[in-house]
Amino acid sequence: MRISVIGCGYLGAVHAASMAELGHDVVGIEVDVPKAQLLSAGKAPFHEPGFEELLGRSLASGRLRFSPDMAEAAGSAVHFVCVGTPQKRGEYAADLRYVEAATESLLQVLQPGELVVGKSTVPVGTAARLAELVSGKVPGAILAWNPEFLREGFAVQDTLHPDRLVYGIPAGPDGDTAQATLDEVYASIVDAGTPQVVTDYATAEMVKTAANSFLATKISFINAMAELCEATGADVKQLADAIGHDDRIGRKFLNAGLGFGGGCLPKDIRAFMARAGELGADQALTFLREVDNINMRRRIRMVDLAREVCDGSLVGKRIAVLGAAFKPDSDDIRDSPALNVAAQLQLQGASVQVTDPAANENIKRSWPQLLVVDSAEEAAERADAVLLLTEWKQFRELDPVAFGQIVAKKRVLDGRQALDRDAWEAAGWSYRALGRRAG
Ligand code: UDX
Repeated sequence: MRISVIGCGYLGAVHAASMAELGHDVVGIEVDVPKAQLLSAGKAPFHEPGFEELLGRSLASGRLRFSPDMAEAAGSAVHFVCVGTPQKRGEYAADLRYVEAATESLLQVLQPGELVVGKSTVPVGTAARLAELVSGKVPGAILAWNPEFLREGFAVQDTLHPDRLVYGIPAGPDGDTAQATLDEVYASIVDAGTPQVVTDYATAEMVKTAANSFLATKISFINAMAELCEATGADVKQLADAIGHDDRIGRKFLNAGLGFGGGCLPKDIRAFMARAGELGADQALTFLREVDNINMRRRIRMVDLAREVCDGSLVGKRIAVLGAAFKPDSDDIRDSPALNVAAQLQLQGASVQVTDPAANENIKRSWPQLLVVDSAEEAAERADAVLLLTEWKQFRELDPVAFGQIVAKKRVLDGRQALDRDAWEAAGWSYRALGRRAG
């Protein structure tokens, strides 16, 4: 099938390359010319395991190209809208200007019989509004909503082997056409027996925000338990293990620590609250405000803990920060808890040396006042405390004995409960983690 993918950021670029991998003839439309050129040259504009290989394969097959020009989307049977929906400045609501601009521009080339498929995360009600716009301007063109659930670090796997397909479609024959077309696009995924939920626009839009709200709530739940553990001397890791054995609860997303960040969870729960307010249903989501608060308190507590282990003052202390991306296997520092803590420590008078296996260039651009170094060893030189804030594999596997030779004081704060506590303590380190007893 001829497919266009409009907006080649994280979601769009991976989606475009994956659609080509599935055998479709794909054009990715990206208005940012340098980004389009980078993608055309087979270079990933972001760190994502397996993506550059997929991109290279798809380009070499001749089934994938990128262009800044919307005219190139003309003639595609399916147009995926994958542009970003960031948080509005100074407000909780989602900023829909890119979705609107992309749709307006697509309408100039859209033809009757073609299918527009929204994948961006949008406030409930957006699809119905866009559907009117599409059918008003191009009678015979149809709109569907098909949310994407990819996780950074697993984006390729999640796109090629999703755990479910959700189609939001209109009622009647247009809906049948949309469903049949999407089934054709995803034929191999459908054939593999992937569960499908075929529903209306509003439900499809809400599936995404509800899923992310649930995940955020689960993380904040365990972090609230960590606060209680700190007050009582209980151990949050053992608590998570114990409740996680109940398969109604499950152990996933119960890792206490610095909490969630990134380009999705924080902004999605806020946009969801804002939309609920507009709909007069704000009470239903007031708990998400608390989820957000618990999450933010973890960052403050981490800074407090660092001050505590540094004998009550951060001024002039050398602190090594390991990790700055919002999670491992990503160079994304959007709303990164790690970077937030690093910046706070620096602002409170510490001399922070930060290192991240993938995000160093991004840190230098957004936080020039932080000293960014190339390795954990360099960061830890003569450090008064070492903070593990993003659980990259190479940090989890550090040898506490050798690492202990580099620092001034063997104090480690494990912000992600990722280190082998016994091994670090055996090597003479004082080990501290949120929600866990001091040694
Ligand atoms: C998330 C959703 O998982 C994905 O389905 C959706 O499409 C986009 O948003 P992503 O932002 O890539 O994906 O990250 P995710 O793996 O969900 O992690 C989010 C944050 O939660 C990270 O900062 C991570 O460190 C944190 N986290 C995760 C915890 O603090 N504890 C956990 O137990 C799990």
